[in-house]
Amino acid sequence: MPHVRIFDTTLRDGEQAPGCSMTVSEKLAVARQLSRLGVDIIEAGFPAASPGDFEAVQTIAQAAHQWTHVPVICGLARANTRDIETAARALALAPSARIHTFLATSAVHLTHKLNMSHAQVRQRVGEMVSLAVSFTPNVQFSPEDATRSETAFLHEVLHEAIEAGATTLNIPDTVGYTTPEEYFALIAGIRDEVVRGRDIVIATHCHDDLGLAVANSLAGVRAGARQVECTINGIGERAGNAALEEVVMALRTRADHFPATTRIRTTEIGRASRIVSRHTGMRVPANKAIVGANAFAHEAGIHQDGMLKHRDTYEIMRADDVGLESGGLVLGKHSGRAALRSHLASLGHVLSDSDCDAVFARFKEVADRKKVVDDRELEAIVAGLSERSVQAWRLELLQVSSGTHAIPTATVKLTTPDGVSRVAAAEGDGPVDAACRAIDVCMEEQVGELVEFHVDAAAEGINAVGGVRIALRADGCSAHGYGVHTDIIVATAEAYLAAINALLRVKARHEAIEGVAA
Ligand code: KIV
Ligand code: ZN
Repeated sequence: MPHVRIFDTTLRDGEQAPGCSMTVSEKLAVARQLSRLGVDIIEAGFPAASPGDFEAVQTIAQAAHQWTHVPVICGLARANTRDIETAARALALAPSARIHTFLATSAVHLTHKLNMSHAQVRQRVGEMVSLAVSFTPNVQFSPEDATRSETAFLHEVLHEAIEAGATTLNIPDTVGYTTPEEYFALIAGIRDEVVRGRDIVIATHCHDDLGLAVANSLAGVRAGARQVECTINGIGERAGNAALEEVVMALRTRADHFPATTRIRTTEIGRASRIVSRHTGMRVPANKAIVGANAFAHEAGIHQDGMLKHRDTYEIMRADDVGLESGGLVLGKHSGRAALRSHLASLGHVLSDSDCDAVFARFKEVADRKKVVDDRELEAIVAGLSERSVQAWRLELLQVSSGTHAIPTATVKLTTPDGVSRVAAAEGDGPVDAACRAIDVCMEEQVGELVEFHVDAAAEGINAVGGVRIALRADGCSAHGYGVHTDIIVATAEAYLAAINALLRVKARHEAIEGVAA
């Protein structure tokens, strides 16, 4: 059966979605999980978009050398010299690199956005694909808004890209406008009239504005596409991109219907979904296909009865096929540092000694309170670590009182970046509010406006580890922090402080860039 390449763009198109931005260390954690998942290509970012994007792509390109499965690392570039050269620099150390360059081909984009003629677009595509090929033979070209482009012109541009050396032609449904029948015909036309048997891969890239992204991608595969571009949990611009887990499980579950398979390790899907959700703050709805909390739950009596008699009555896939059945190995309060470290390594987290110490300390705290800690809680603890290890202000102590007959009050002790201790107390509308206000008093100002506050339990049970994500905004900059604890108020205070530290760093970087530009 032919192989469909899975091109994951969670770190590029996914991260572009409002509120989904990630730090470099968070992107690296996602990329590492994508490698465990077995994706063929990781689109790690858009290096020319910002120094942070450049750093993320470069960091992932270097880190990929250490992974067991090494995907191609791809960087996006508009069809201009600066973007392509910047992408090439960011990817220079990747074990295997791809440059993905794009230019719109629809009349509406040419007239209102680019102000370019057909001839100019053809020429630019030829020149820029050639430039990209001078850095790597692995070049992908996308005619943006392909599904609303005039077919004859689209074909001409794709011919130009092939002549200049592109080896993958990606056909974006940029605005999520097409239907499965139309997209099938579009891909089949490109297969028969443009590619004509040559060794060129056709890729699908579908957005979900009409809820058709996965159906369109699968129609593309039936028409001959051999690469699907998708994101974990379907995150992405506006309504998102085709969801990786849905595409992969549809191809696997309906292998009788689709003419191709993927090389994805489906048992890693659940973890990938949790990591992306945690780091982007984009919650997975309970009824989301494949990875939602209810995706494998059977509530109705008639369904439960059928399931007890034979699982196939109501189940087309098993939860453990996608790594959702259990929380994995359970460690307890007697587990040692070495056992924890080797278990984390088996989950893909290779920690330095100091990070391992920090994780072990928090693991012991949690295990003392609730006896056993499962993989989902360990992942949450590791996610919290990436924030803690780089923070400047530190939480030394938090004491809270609240209740039905008490005014919520919190006292905090923080260590400043210079190592000095500060103590402050504050009242609030509730214990969370009081803790955050006390932190503001310690810092002598409110560093940013709170724009996001999410609380999640990492596992089942009233005493499960809770994860809190907080995003702050100030002066056009935004940043987020993540805190993990069995005590949700402590997790909130840690998340709030991590977000403050991140925002202070972002603001300092912006000021430095503005200073250079002035
Ligand atoms: O949706 C789109 O058109 C894109 C391109 C950059 C491929 O994301
Ligand atoms: Zn897109």
